[in-house]
Amino acid sequence: MSTRSVKVGKVGAVRPGDMVAFDVDGAPIAVVNADGRMFAISDRCTHEECSLAADGILEGTVVTCGCHGAQFDVATGRVLAPPAVEPLPVYPLRVVGDDILVEVG
Ligand code: FES
Repeated sequence: MSTRSVKVGKVGAVRPGDMVAFDVDGAPIAVVNADGRMFAISDRCTHEECSLAADGILEGTVVTCGCHGAQFDVATGRVLAPPAVEPLPVYPLRVVGDDILVEVG
């Protein structure tokens, strides 16, 4: 399956320490600004699908789900703390000018 880049928003919309959810072709994707480094992750916790952007807490590159406390590394999607078991999908992200582009497919 091929991937394509989708423009999801402007860099200024996601400030350092923020997570903002975007609907990218029906997929809930959170753009994360971890102290100036941008990442794109699934916005749905792999435990019970809570929104990480809405309810989670970001510290550095670690997001803690607000529902039951699972933790993920936003750079890799790796689970750092239960109850989640499955890693979080991550998406390649590029900044072009002041546009955020996320690769989906
Ligand atoms: S839904 Fe995220 S930890 Fe349960």
